[in-house]
Amino acid sequence: MTNVEQAVQYAHDHQKDFMQEYQELLRIPSVSTLPEHKPDMRRAAEWIAERFRRLDFDPVEIMPTGGHPIVYGERLNAGPGAPTVLLYGHYDVQPVDPIEEWDSPPFEPEVRGENLYARGASDMKGQLIAVLKALESIAKTSELALNFKAMIEGEEEVGSANLEAFIAGHKDLLRCDLSLNADTSILAADTPALTYALRGLAYFEIRLHGPEGDLHSGTYGGIVDNPATALCRVIAGMHDAEGRVTLPGFYDNVRPISPAERAELAKLPQTDAWWAGKANVAFLRAGEPGYTATERATARPTLDVNGLLSGFTGVGSKTVLPARAMGKVSMRLVPDQVPVDVARSLSEYLEATLPKTIRWEVEELSHSYPAMLSLDSDAARAAGEALEEVWGVAPLFKREGGSVPIVGLIKEMIGVPTLMVGFGLPDDNLHAPNEKQHLPTHFRGIETFIRLLAKLGAGK
Ligand code: BES
Ligand code: MN
Repeated sequence: MTNVEQAVQYAHDHQKDFMQEYQELLRIPSVSTLPEHKPDMRRAAEWIAERFRRLDFDPVEIMPTGGHPIVYGERLNAGPGAPTVLLYGHYDVQPVDPIEEWDSPPFEPEVRGENLYARGASDMKGQLIAVLKALESIAKTSELALNFKAMIEGEEEVGSANLEAFIAGHKDLLRCDLSLNADTSILAADTPALTYALRGLAYFEIRLHGPEGDLHSGTYGGIVDNPATALCRVIAGMHDAEGRVTLPGFYDNVRPISPAERAELAKLPQTDAWWAGKANVAFLRAGEPGYTATERATARPTLDVNGLLSGFTGVGSKTVLPARAMGKVSMRLVPDQVPVDVARSLSEYLEATLPKTIRWEVEELSHSYPAMLSLDSDAARAAGEALEEVWGVAPLFKREGGSVPIVGLIKEMIGVPTLMVGFGLPDDNLHAPNEKQHLPTHFRGIETFIRLLAKLGAGK
């Protein structure tokens, strides 16, 4: 048996143990956005650090940031001649609400059919476990001509606001030849895929202030501007009737999708019906004319309202003219849009559109740069081969509509590309109730990582 086959055999023989640890990690409610989970964040970081220690990473440290800590570790025993891969992951997860819509408790992982249900099962504790278990399978059976660094953060789901400063402060520590990021998905259980682009994100909170305090809507309605109405108007005005974003200059730096790329994207199985099915909606909304749903969801920029708050939201009615209104609005960005340009454009729009009776402010809550990776590289070829060996069919190449801030940062600040290979599925219910991971896909994922790492070691 070759080394790789031995590692694959090890992974096969230890599926039960792997599942135990996977579920152990899922039981830690590491919700980064909620202050009450701070101790759980620490516990998750310690759990991860301990796993790297068991894999002979040395040193392994839990490093402070302005927010949740980063687990950093290295295993450089292949020597200076061998390439160094930076493994990235995030141990944080999204909140679980609405909790009543879960069929089993989000932090009590449960296997039903071929799926494991829990918050983080797919995004991305399952993907992190897949990489860790591939490493374990290799470490227990052979050795690789590959050095590893690992950086596992706790703030991805809240926009990685402290990551840029962390990277800036640790550039030498993080130096590497390639970054491997498992925070992504394939197209279907029988359709492997490589992700070659991510969208960026510019996320804002808009606060409108009207009268000094809440007013009686019978006494003052019609003569005092209502910030809730004003907020609805400006938000409604952010799209035109056909679904284009109206903010001034919004599309200025959008890199067009080339005819060749459009032809490639058209080969993906993602038809309109496919998207509607995944989202569990009867129809898709109208969008930018002239673009397919796949293009609009992954290769064109978009704008969405993520939250609204104003006035009386309790049960029953209250005749109030609210003093304040708040909206959370975010834009997904594509190359070569820049978050700060979008922020300026939003402010210009609000300045031009809101009545003078309304005072307003905009706070940027997070931003992330879009990223595009070259498929013409040894690393991408190695990933393609590994996927094909495990799935028996060649992978498709897809763009991802979601964002992973590290990818743009690592390119910009360390100068290395990221290989995005992960084994979620489009219907894993990320950020939603009943998040799950398809287990056969998870185990194929582990085998894929074993083969991929072996190729990266051999290839140089
Ligand atoms: N893993 C997701 C991104 C993703 C989504 C990859 C779907 C593949 C398929 C990631 O954890 C995520 O949700 N990111 C946030 C980032 C944001 C807060 C900066 C996102 O995209 O909303
Ligand atoms: Mn993720």
